Amino acid sequence: MDERETSGSVDGGRATTIVIFGATGDLTRRKLIPALFNLCRKGRLSPGLRIVGFARSELTDGAFVARMRAGVDEHASFGFDEEEWRRFAGRLSYLAGDFGKLEDCECLSKDLAEMEEVPSNRIYYLATAPRFYVEIVDHLASRGMTGEEEGWRRVVVEKPFGRDLRSARDLNEALHARLHERQIYRMDHYLGKETVQNILVFRFANAIFEPIWNRNYIDHVQITVSETVGVGHRADYYERSGVLRDMFQNHILQLVALTAMEYPAAFEADAIRNEKVKVMAAIRPFVPDEVTEHTVCGRYRGYLEEDGVAADSRVPTFAAARIFIDNWRWQGVPFYLRSGKRLARKTSEILIQFKSPPHMMFPLPPDYRFTNNVLAICIQPDEGIHLRFEAKVPDTAAEMRSVDMEFHYAEAFGPAGIPEAYERLLLDALAGDASLFARSDGVELGWRFVDPIVRAWESPGAPPLAGYERGSWGPEQADAFVEGDGRAWLLGCGADEDAG
Ligand code: BG6
Repeated sequence: MDERETSGSVDGGRATTIVIFGATGDLTRRKLIPALFNLCRKGRLSPGLRIVGFARSELTDGAFVARMRAGVDEHASFGFDEEEWRRFAGRLSYLAGDFGKLEDCECLSKDLAEMEEVPSNRIYYLATAPRFYVEIVDHLASRGMTGEEEGWRRVVVEKPFGRDLRSARDLNEALHARLHERQIYRMDHYLGKETVQNILVFRFANAIFEPIWNRNYIDHVQITVSETVGVGHRADYYERSGVLRDMFQNHILQLVALTAMEYPAAFEADAIRNEKVKVMAAIRPFVPDEVTEHTVCGRYRGYLEEDGVAADSRVPTFAAARIFIDNWRWQGVPFYLRSGKRLARKTSEILIQFKSPPHMMFPLPPDYRFTNNVLAICIQPDEGIHLRFEAKVPDTAAEMRSVDMEFHYAEAFGPAGIPEAYERLLLDALAGDASLFARSDGVELGWRFVDPIVRAWESPGAPPLAGYERGSWGPEQADAFVEGDGRAWLLGCGADEDAG
């Protein structure tokens, strides 16, 4: 079906049912229900919205609600209020069934129709392992549950969307055989973060940055997404993905696209996604032989001893890459990307380093480390923006020091200013706004970028993964290739802006 069709309409005043497949899993407890509960507390859910959990475990409505309540207690970032929960819990119910069985989906269809009383819109939220997506959608379609005669039907799928270009294409094809692209919402929770959405506002609602946002003024761009946590209890998933599939194909490329894209003609899903896709299409593909020259893959020491990790695992927990975007705006400007687990600090940031002044008239002491202007877009945990520039040290002739001009969300908008990413994404899926969801072509381009890197690092001739200490900034090799370009990794967000 045509993937350029425009987004579906808003609910048109109809009641809406969110059916969560695999509702007894972690995602529902940790993310979906806390987000929906918070939306309910804020009065953002329409009165006719109900939430139905669907999974194999035989649970009563009461037992399901109790489980969800425990999840909210544990994971919500707001104070729990019994009365608010009681009001929200009235929207929750549970149906037991195996989404792998056609007859159970048939029962689901009947039960939903009974429950709904009036024709309703539906979101099918697939909070299941990705291997079930096609089967579930097949069952829904064959039971007539994806037709939109009685209200819209939308399907939300989580990452990973495929594990390489071919599987992502197959999955897109299989879904498109049953659904219109406008019915498919591919989650990338990074896009739901306020600070990520702010990249567009920052770039395109201010006139002063755009004229310098190009190869004439920018020396290079760095994107760091570092985590202090290790693989934790997710080895089963992580062993099949590793950092390139887990973080680069989706979150990091989305950050690249938002940083590098042109001004969309309208604040509308396809206009925005068209521009992002153009950036992804312009990323210079890696020639297989050169992959290891432009990338570093590493693994933290002790990874092999983690629970569930294979003794001969070759999965990287750290990667760094130097990429180029072959278009007029970015020609010759390297984008350095890095992400890893068990690093020194948790931070997600985009750092724009500007060029040096063309001529320096101030005498600098021989050991002075002149810092070019740096603009840091701080995604988390220090949500805000820092601009670093040189200032004259008072009471000196012409001594300088780099100083930071800072904007912090918490200061400007108050501590309650930043909702969880899932709140925005769920609201948008309900409203039929797909701007913050990945489109099929964008996902495939993500894999086109990552595939050669994964292949090169998985090939028998690949260099061994570079080891790094827990709590460090990754393997030395990652520093070396940036330093080889006469540059260094930088951190621009947070209190202690040490070089990484
Ligand atoms: C997920 C990855 O998509 O993003 C995890 O699967 C990672 O491995 C997480 O830890 C990071 O998200 P955030 O929001 O904490 O930066």
